[in-house]
Amino acid sequence: MTQAAATDWTPESWKQRLAAHQAVYPDRAAVDVAVAKLREFPPLVTSFEIERLKALIADAQEGKRFVLQGGDCAETLADCRPDVITNKLKILLQMSLVLVHGMQKPVVRVGRFAGQYAKPRSSPMETREGVTLPSYFGDLVNGAEFTPEARTPNPHLMVRGYQHAAVTLNFIRSLIDSGFADLHHPEYWDLRFMHHASLPEELRREYQQMSRRLAEALKFMEALGETGIDDLSRVAFFTSHEGLNLLYESAQTRRVPRRDGWYNLTTHLPWIGERTRALDGAHVEYFRGIANPVGVKVGPSTTPADLLALIDRLNPRDEPGRMVVIHRMGAARIAQALPALLHVVRHARRRVLWVCDPMHGNGVTTRHGVKTRDFNDILGELRQAFDLHEREGTILGGVHFELTGEDVTECVGGAAGITEDDLTGNYSSLCDPRLNYQQALEMAFLIARHAAK
Ligand code: PEP
Ligand code: CO
Repeated sequence: MTQAAATDWTPESWKQRLAAHQAVYPDRAAVDVAVAKLREFPPLVTSFEIERLKALIADAQEGKRFVLQGGDCAETLADCRPDVITNKLKILLQMSLVLVHGMQKPVVRVGRFAGQYAKPRSSPMETREGVTLPSYFGDLVNGAEFTPEARTPNPHLMVRGYQHAAVTLNFIRSLIDSGFADLHHPEYWDLRFMHHASLPEELRREYQQMSRRLAEALKFMEALGETGIDDLSRVAFFTSHEGLNLLYESAQTRRVPRRDGWYNLTTHLPWIGERTRALDGAHVEYFRGIANPVGVKVGPSTTPADLLALIDRLNPRDEPGRMVVIHRMGAARIAQALPALLHVVRHARRRVLWVCDPMHGNGVTTRHGVKTRDFNDILGELRQAFDLHEREGTILGGVHFELTGEDVTECVGGAAGITEDDLTGNYSSLCDPRLNYQQALEMAFLIARHAAK
């Protein structure tokens, strides 16, 4: 029996529920045109890949693998460029290598890319110097520029977003097919590509030794005729995004030949955001019926009863690999907010993959009004997360970051010592502040060390 078969779910049954954070499109006819177009396009991912990820997540739920999820807060159409995409893949690869080494287990890489174009906003409108316009909801919905033309939600942007996701994914797939992520070639994993990002010498040396050792170990295993090397040495990337714009998500939700169920074929792992996880809301209704693994973000206001009800609704049959719970509490609140959630899920014997997002509970605004996050708060939340899980006897099976392979100045702290005054140097995120290349790699080292203790 499929998730959806038991009830009256359809890819559009969410329309009967209250949908929070949805764009208000002035031109309804244009919405129908865009949705019809999206329905006709070939899918971005396959059900085979989705089921493969589900199997890997099922392993991670048992502590046999670790999930690294990361990318931009708001992916933009303008950043659909080879250098930006390559750098994002490289930082995820390099972090994963550090984590493989530190945790002594395989790492599943999941990008926040090829569709992370829609953003929930705390206020639907924004006022600047007396002028009020719709807020920027991400490139899937409207433009960031503060003009009436750009800010009016435009349904055609769903089509453009989809096309850019396709181009992004096509480039990622060809990079991987041509050996970019092949562990036999540590030169691709080299740090030199970011010569301008000065990693502390000690970490640089540790990293270089690590990648060399890994390449040698692979060669050795192959010389012994080990099977399964291909699986080990060929790195896969999966995609994920917040499934916020339900018109976009449901237009590409399909049945596939020879499988039960409905698949969201825009991405492997869609997730429900903290602001749209209402049990009776449209997002939970949509997500309960799809066959993909699904994530749900939970913040400090989540009660144990809320979480159990969400798990019941989204994964009533306790299917392995299906349910990913991403907690994002903040360094100051995790110790008080997380243990009760872990406890109740463990006692109910529900199968979930616990992932820590140490970004979204740690946002602060500087005295100059700039949104930032402190490296130490991010690290502090992660360390506490590992310890709290250990104490409860649950498994922290993954981490979720907002990061970029570029040399931006958006988060303060780290070995490079970025201060509040540096933030204006290269702040390009259209939404939340991301770890830059160096901060992200340093973070991977520090959590690998903490987890290895
Ligand atoms: C996000 O992941 O960018 C986001 C908005 O997170 P959350 O739903 O956890 O606030
Ligand atoms: Co964000």
